[in-house]
Amino acid sequence: MHRLLIFSIMFCISYGQEARPHPPKITTPDVEERIYYKINDEVILACQAEANPKAQYEWTKDNEAITSDFIKQDPNTGELQIATLTRRETGAYQCFASNQIGSKTIKAMSPIITVDLAYLESWDETGLPPPRISAIEGEAVQLTCDNVPACNPPGQFKWYQGDDDSSEVVQNERIAIDAEGTLHFVYVTKSDDLNGKKYQCAIFNRHLNSINLGSGKILEVTKLNPIPDRAPSVLYSKSNQKALIGHYVDIECIFGGKPIPAISWKNNELELITGSSTDKYEFMDTSRRVLRVKNIQESDEGSFTCEGANTQTNSAITALNVTSRPIWEKALSSITVAATKEASMTCQAKSVIRENPPGPPEWFENGASIPNDKFESGKYVFSDNQQILKVTDLVKPDDTTCFQCKVTNSEGFRFGDGCLDVIEPIVITLRPPAVQEITKGDIVNLTVIAETNSPFEIRYKWFFNNQTYDDMPPFVIFNDTSKSAYINTEDLSFENYRKINGTYIRMVYNAHETINITVQVVLKEVAVVGPATAAAPDLWWIALIIGILLLVCVIVIICVVCRRKAQEGVYPLDKKERANDLDPEKDLADSGFHDLSRADDNGMEKKGTPLQFTEEPLSYEDDDSLAEYGDGEDMGKFNEDGSFIGVYMDKKQPAPPVRNGNETQI
Ligand SMILES: *[C@@H]1O[C@H](CO)[C@@H](O)[C@H](O)[C@H]1NC(C)=O
Ligand SMILES: *[C@@H]1O[C@H](CO)[C@@H](O)[C@H](O)[C@H]1NC(C)=O
Ligand SMILES: *[C@@H]1O[C@H](CO)[C@@H](O)[C@H](O)[C@H]1NC(C)=O
Ligand SMILES: *[C@@H]1O[C@H](CO)[C@@H](O)[C@H](O)[C@H]1NC(C)=O
Ligand SMILES: *[C@@H]1O[C@H](CO)[C@@H](O)[C@H](O)[C@H]1NC(C)=O
Ligand SMILES: *[C@@H]1O[C@H](CO)[C@@H](O)[C@H](O)[C@H]1NC(C)=O
Repeated sequence: MHRLLIFSIMFCISYGQEARPHPPKITTPDVEERIYYKINDEVILACQAEANPKAQYEWTKDNEAITSDFIKQDPNTGELQIATLTRRETGAYQCFASNQIGSKTIKAMSPIITVDLAYLESWDETGLPPPRISAIEGEAVQLTCDNVPACNPPGQFKWYQGDDDSSEVVQNERIAIDAEGTLHFVYVTKSDDLNGKKYQCAIFNRHLNSINLGSGKILEVTKLNPIPDRAPSVLYSKSNQKALIGHYVDIECIFGGKPIPAISWKNNELELITGSSTDKYEFMDTSRRVLRVKNIQESDEGSFTCEGANTQTNSAITALNVTSRPIWEKALSSITVAATKEASMTCQAKSVIRENPPGPPEWFENGASIPNDKFESGKYVFSDNQQILKVTDLVKPDDTTCFQCKVTNSEGFRFGDGCLDVIEPIVITLRPPAVQEITKGDIVNLTVIAETNSPFEIRYKWFFNNQTYDDMPPFVIFNDTSKSAYINTEDLSFENYRKINGTYIRMVYNAHETINITVQVVLKEVAVVGPATAAAPDLWWIALIIGILLLVCVIVIICVVCRRKAQEGVYPLDKKERANDLDPEKDLADSGFHDLSRADDNGMEKKGTPLQFTEEPLSYEDDDSLAEYGDGEDMGKFNEDGSFIGVYMDKKQPAPPVRNGNETQI
């Protein structure tokens, strides 16, 4: 039963997502690619998109609609078919997936697939006898590979010796073939002379797995005894070479000389390259003639030096020019944004350092140029050198659309595609007051109620004073039935009550939208106590001084009266007189001043019970709570019913009970 329920909920959710109309999202092809085919091959290109309603497909070739009878395409499946490929059908293919949302046709464009033909042409028959090359033993010799036929993709060179096609020349310390096909002998020996038979250059096409042999060359070597030593000479090196970011590059250096020069390399930082393979560098042969620089970065730009050393040394320098088509900093991509908000489509690319940056991107909407009135009306706004296209004040479904951008620099271009999907926004139907001034006993209202018609589930998160709370900030109560959130300050202890002020944020969000509801909670009383506390010491001193003066007066008066009584007979001072007229402490207390128990410290007479302002003796929660508001004196506190009892100004407090007359011994 439970499982059935879960299943049906999951079905509803996935069905809900699926059923929502949304722009096509092309899943195949997903990256740009160059594919080599053989002549007359059948070519099938697939295009697939997730879309609702279902996408229709159309391919373009070299940015134009396809009209050729030799290229077939199915608008429903997205498949393109070339029955037999010829050079005519090669080119840059791009797929459009389109559907209808609202009244508009939305088109997403795929990355570019380049259909290329792999071929290897034959060598021209010159009809001439093979050229003869003469050399003396110990000399460096080069046999060039001439009239090389066209080969796509670029082929690999090999050399064969004799009439036998199967005897390939093996490269070793003394024999090397360079990137352009030349066969080098670091120094020749008589054994390299094939007695009138020829060396034959060949080119190998790996895609076709075929090899074509060219006309050959005859090498005649004159014997010499002994073979003299020769200083290193540079037989092959390129003064500069292009390297593409992210790819690798092979730098090659071939030295002639006898004994065979040992080769060492320094990188662009003039550091000796050691080890035969690291993350960055690898020697492609044991003689270290070919250095591979891997994962090219801008930092690899600079001069690489190769040195050949036998008894003497020689060196060659290759300047590596690191370059690239535009490099994405932020490629255009699909986004989902709630209506009423604004969307930023970004198409941001750079060139490598020290090269001209790409021009501003060219933008397209649904495969066509964007009509100018969109910009004139302020609906679309360019910024950041046209790298950002803002769509303002989104409307569903009118603003659901796809954009394309093209960024170009000296090395080529890059193409981006991204769709804007506009969904129903989250609507806050109930939000609490943004600033709440609270008195102890009040309710802090933190109730937020949000709704949406979009299929994306609304979630909530709390923040309080920059802290994230997965459940709830301290003291917040959440009623799951009424969805209300609040703090009941009545139930809080004084200490906890003081902790609730600050900023509460209720983050209301779904997969595509975030709304922050902020509530500032300010405690009213805490603000009142502050200044009063500051004023207290002055009043206290004044009270003390007046008190002392009054006491002295009273004592003087009493002494005078006593002496007179002693002379005239005893007259007892009646209680009423003492309480109402002659008690200075009471006068002070009535006028809002402190008790005078402090006088004890000054060596004055002992007083009775300190002044109290409530019926019951006060009990403080702890010493800390007092410390913040004064130095331990009776300055006021919160009553149990939450009302605050101030000591300084409140004249309406019941008159403090005055110590009994019999407590004071005068
Ligand atoms: C590197 O190549 C680029 C593109 O071909 C060129 O514009 C630039 O001047 C070259 N840089 C150097 C240092 O040769
Ligand atoms: C919280 O505030 C909202 C909006 O001011 C109000 O509608 C709601 O009734 C309040 N809730 C409580 C529990 O006071
Ligand atoms: C929260 O963070 C902001 C920004 O970092 C800061 O200005 C503010 O004072 C912080 N508030 C609290 C209560 O820590
Ligand atoms: C939660 O709210 C409902 C409806 O307003 C109310 O009936 C219920 O008593 C509340 N529950 C608690 C624990 O406060
Ligand atoms: C809370 O109030 C106290 C006292 O007024 C103040 O010092 C403190 O900064 C406040 N805290 C926050 C987070 O606002
Ligand atoms: C919402 O508030 C949180 C916490 O302060 C913050 O991390 C987030 O970026 C805010 N989101 C928005 C959209 O303002």
